[in-house]
Amino acid sequence: MASNDQTRAHADSQQALLTIENLSVSYGHVNALKHANLQVFKGEIVVLIGANGAGKTTLLETALGINTPLSGAIRFKGKPIGGAAVDRNVRAGICLVPEGRGVFASMSVLDNLLLGAHNNMKNVGKHLQRVYEWFPILEKRQDQIARTLSGGERQMLAIGRALMSSPELIMVDEPSIGLAPIVVNDIFNILRMLNQEGYTILLSEQNANKALKCAHRGYVLETGTVTLSGTAAQLLDDPGVREAYLGA
Ligand SMILES: Nc1ncnc2c1ncn2[C@@H]1O[C@H](COP(=O)(O)OP(=O)(O)O)[C@@H](O)[C@H]1O
Ligand SMILES: [Mg+2]
Repeated sequence: MASNDQTRAHADSQQALLTIENLSVSYGHVNALKHANLQVFKGEIVVLIGANGAGKTTLLETALGINTPLSGAIRFKGKPIGGAAVDRNVRAGICLVPEGRGVFASMSVLDNLLLGAHNNMKNVGKHLQRVYEWFPILEKRQDQIARTLSGGERQMLAIGRALMSSPELIMVDEPSIGLAPIVVNDIFNILRMLNQEGYTILLSEQNANKALKCAHRGYVLETGTVTLSGTAAQLLDDPGVREAYLGA
C-alpha cells in the first residue's frame, strides 16, 4: 500500500497516466457528473467508491470515449482525449471491463477474447498466450459458449478480453457485483497480480472494503461530485467512509 509520502512523490515527479479535470457529463436533464477531478498515475491501483447512481459508470465510460463531456478535460499521458472516440482511445492504451461483465454470451470464450483484439491484431497470438497463462481456466474452456461460464469465470473472460487490446490502463467497473465473497477475493487477487505485472488499474466499487485493501488510492463520488480522496489507508480510516461504504 502506498504511503502518503509515496503518493505525493508520484504526483510531484510524474505526469499522470489519466487526468480527469473539472469533468461534467449530462444525460438530458440528469447531471451525472459535476466538475469531477481525478488522476491515475502509472503503476497505481485507484478505486472510485460510490453508491448506486453516483456516476461511476459515467466517469469510466466517458474516459473510454463512450460519452461526450459537457465540459472539462480528459488527458491520457498528457494528451487530450475528451469526446467520443472509443477506438482511438483503445488504440492509445485505455480499456474498460464493463459493469455486469458484458461478454458475448452466445459466442465461445476464444471468440470473445479475439474480439478484444480487433483494434490491434498485431501480436494477437502472443496476447492470447499471456491471457491463457494468467487464466488457465479460459484456455480449458476456450471452445465453450460464454453463457455457460460461472460468474467468476465470466469476469475473468471480461478482464482477459480487455487485456487482448494490449492496454496500459485497465478500467474495471464494479468487478465484484453479484459474485460470491470467495470469488471476489480471486478477482481482486487477479487485479493485484496484473498491477504487479505493470498494468495501471482504475476500478469502481460500491462495497469498498476489499477494493480499498487492494488499492493504493481512492476517490469518493457522491451524486456526480468527488467529495473525498486520499490514500487507501486514509479512506479505510475515515469515519464517513466507514459508515457509508464499509458497513462499520
Ligand atoms: N443512459 C442514461 N440516460 C439517462 N440517465 C442516465 C443514463 N445512464 C446513467 N444515468 C443517470 O446518471 C446518474 C449516474 O449513473 P451511473 O454513472 O450509472 O452511476 P453508477 O455507475 O455510480 O451507479 C444516475 O442518476 C443515473 O440514473
Ligand atoms: Mg455503474
